[in-house]
Amino acid sequence: MTDSGDRLVSRDGHSVPLARRNSVLGADALELTAVPPATGAYSYDPGYASTASCTSRITYVDGEKGVLMYRGYAADDLARHSNFTEVSWLLLNGELPSHAELQSFSEELAGLRACAPEVLEAIAAMPAGAHPMSAMTVALSVMPAVYPECANPGDADHRRRFSHRAIANVATVAAAAYRNTIGETAIAPRHDLDYAANLLYMMFGEEPNPVAARALDTLLVLHADHEQNCSTSTVRMAGSSGVNPFSALAAGCIALWGPAHGGANEAVIKMLEEIGTSKNIGEYVARAKDPGDSFRLMGFGHRVYKNFDPRATIIRGICHEVLQELKTGKGRLFTLARQLEEIALSDNYFKDRRLYPNVDFYSGIIYRALGLPATMFTPMFAIGRTVGWTAHWCEMHSDPESRIGRPRQLYLGPTARSYTPVEKR
Ligand code: ACO
Repeated sequence: MTDSGDRLVSRDGHSVPLARRNSVLGADALELTAVPPATGAYSYDPGYASTASCTSRITYVDGEKGVLMYRGYAADDLARHSNFTEVSWLLLNGELPSHAELQSFSEELAGLRACAPEVLEAIAAMPAGAHPMSAMTVALSVMPAVYPECANPGDADHRRRFSHRAIANVATVAAAAYRNTIGETAIAPRHDLDYAANLLYMMFGEEPNPVAARALDTLLVLHADHEQNCSTSTVRMAGSSGVNPFSALAAGCIALWGPAHGGANEAVIKMLEEIGTSKNIGEYVARAKDPGDSFRLMGFGHRVYKNFDPRATIIRGICHEVLQELKTGKGRLFTLARQLEEIALSDNYFKDRRLYPNVDFYSGIIYRALGLPATMFTPMFAIGRTVGWTAHWCEMHSDPESRIGRPRQLYLGPTARSYTPVEKR
């Protein structure tokens, strides 16, 4: 326990001072480095729910108030008024770009869109049934071999080149991964289209409807960063060993793919399809509440947001606009999702546990209206989050306090025992 002077008093009365690190917003952090040598005990925090693993100046989340800010700017303000390229600059550099900076950054990213042929060959070598997230991970794993000018984490110029290359190439890689799943070759990027419009062009080979491109751009902005989430922490953890940054991104991609994280958008659509009609909602809500059933309402709940996820509110609005504009006839799932949300939010199980729709509850419905198959939903998330991953990787490598990530454990295995030869067992 700690007293008001931030000291930890151990069971044997040993008192350890805990240095308090003040935050700019939100909770401070108590430094625990002095605790184990003084008390012989580690802190135990499964899932790191109460642990600040690093200092960061990039993104702020207040889960109680539903606040999400990138470099101090509200994400919903950016989603409405900015665009993905400008937000990428902001997350990487800490300030909004001047007009000239934005123009030169946009041109540089457009010039970097084409991938090295070896990267596209690796994607084309994937079996047709491979999930595009697998192909993206493979493509990122090839990049250390073809982009040696980005390899040195200790060199600021390498870090800048890596981040720009990664942001530009990840869309090309995702589009090529999609084309491979339908047995088609990659389409070369266009330099005259903006980021999201070019992404849709590389997938479908036609200039997209501007409403579709704008909706995708907004989704990319809203997925761009979310402080120390599972995949970003994975990028930091892998990157802390000094591994090539593209390999750290590959690790992040793998972490993102799981259904408890970025794989949820795909899982939501599968769940809605399975529910089928409103008369089945009750049965699925009952299953989600049953402790004996592993089924969860996908797209519901968040480790940090406990009142609402601000991204979900914006995305629900875009969803409505896109379905109206594109008239794709995909409104059935949106109606079902709204009904499911309403029923769950009036249910004490969800109310008591403060479970609300998260960023991915509605995003899949938009992706689907844009013509994307469910397997491409998580790659879209990965494209947006690449900006956050690179910004965090760069921040970590410019932080003199950063060390290799190496948590400890609470050991519960056998105590020392002697080996018995197999014939005597
Ligand atoms: N459906 C039903 N019950 C749920 C759900 C859900 N979606 N989410 C949490 N719960 C319940 C848990 O069973 C637990 O109940 P209990 O107290 O009776 O045991 C309680 O709510 C707390 O849940 P935890 O798993 O402890 O919460 P945690 O913070 O560890 O997990 C997570 C958060 C992974 C997001 C979880 O809510 C979940 O699995 N949601 C569904 C998957 C999903 O949508 N993931 C995307 C998250 S957003 C993102 O990563 C982009």
